[in-house]
Amino acid sequence: MFTPLYPRWSNTVFRVGLVLLVLGLASVVVVPMIYVRTTYNTNQFIQWDQPVQFDHRHHARDDGIECLYCHSSAERSANAGVPTTGVCMGCHSQVWNHSPLLELVRRSYFSGQPINWKRVNEVPDFVYFNHSVHVTQGIDCKNCHGDVSQMAHVMQVQPLTMGWCVDCHRRASRIRAPTEPIPRNAWEASVELFNPEPAEPRTITPLTTCTACHR
Ligand code: HEC
Ligand code: HEC
Ligand code: HEC
Ligand code: HEC
Ligand code: HEC
Repeated sequence: MFTPLYPRWSNTVFRVGLVLLVLGLASVVVVPMIYVRTTYNTNQFIQWDQPVQFDHRHHARDDGIECLYCHSSAERSANAGVPTTGVCMGCHSQVWNHSPLLELVRRSYFSGQPINWKRVNEVPDFVYFNHSVHVTQGIDCKNCHGDVSQMAHVMQVQPLTMGWCVDCHRRASRIRAPTEPIPRNAWEASVELFNPEPAEPRTITPLTTCTACHR
């Protein structure tokens, strides 16, 4: 009589093991692909703690201070920049000048030691991003940052991935040249510029070539 070397159930064990191995190998590839697309990886929607509880709602919405009053270099240079405490003290040497919430601001002003704000939106160093090329074309801050004037803590609302940049650049190379100045803070107006089928596509430097953003 022939006695099998392994019991019958070992076949099942082997098959199950094989399936698990294939799934395991597949997940090595698939899990990171899913992960990079999640908001964990892109840092979207995180409300970071800041050294001073600066609230855009009180300043940009309630007091109607313009974005460019504090982020003035957005129109002129690559970086939008965060205002120095001198800008804050322009008002806060008079308004709320004893508030404990502003203690750090006052200390920074008198010591010359800048406030160490936590950076919210950031692209890697190998990417060239420039605010002024976008802002002077009438692309409103809202297109890329959402409505900051409604945020208690600024958060990154867009993925800031390459796909996100290139997606707008594909549409942007078909933008019609603006015929009239675009009003500031007019998110709807700047969106209308992205006419999907303009009669005559505007020819500008291809914005999808690698060296536009990797130089
Ligand atoms: C009174 C000055 C002031 C005004 C006005 C203001 N901001 Fe700010 N903004 C700041 C300060 C200070 C920070 C850094 C602290 C923080 O992130 O909350 C900041 C941070 C930001 C950030 C995040 C920076 C990063 O690290 O990515 C964005 C985006 C931003 N502001 C956009 C805007 C927009 C859009 C407006 C107009 C609707 C605006 N700000 C109006 C002072 C101002
Ligand atoms: C143009 C004037 C102006 C400037 C510039 C300004 N503030 Fe204010 N800030 C105000 C006023 C007005 C209030 C009271 C707002 C309210 O309660 O509606 C205030 C309130 C505050 C408060 C306490 C209440 C709150 O809104 O959370 C903090 C903290 C503050 N500001 C931080 C800053 C910092 C930091 C800067 C510089 C980046 C700055 N402010 C620049 C006018 C200004
Ligand atoms: C086309 C998209 C786009 C537009 C429009 C835009 N931003 Fe930004 N913003 C970004 C990106 C991307 C970053 C991260 C840049 C980096 O890491 O170099 C950023 C960063 C910032 C920062 C952080 C500090 C800095 O200088 O990098 C501030 C503050 C800011 N933006 C404010 C503004 C304001 C205010 C406006 C409108 C006047 C505006 N942005 C318009 C995409 C945009
Ligand atoms: C909402 C649309 C939009 C988004 C999002 C956007 N861009 Fe742009 N970008 C434009 C437009 C429109 C222009 C062309 C401006 C002009 O006509 O000169 C431009 C121009 C540029 C230029 C100048 C190219 C040149 O050589 O003149 C660079 C660099 C650039 N973008 C980088 C980026 C990067 C990096 C990102 C993502 C982090 C990004 N942009 C996201 C619309 C966008
Ligand atoms: C409109 C701007 C833009 C253009 C055009 C562009 N890139 Fe990128 N690229 C980015 C941004 C932004 C990132 C960072 C993405 C991130 O952090 O998730 C990136 C990241 C990368 C990376 C790093 C891997 C990754 O995905 O994070 C490589 C490699 C790369 N780009 C290659 C290219 C090549 C090749 C081209 C031309 C076919 C190109 N890029 C065109 C904006 C651009």
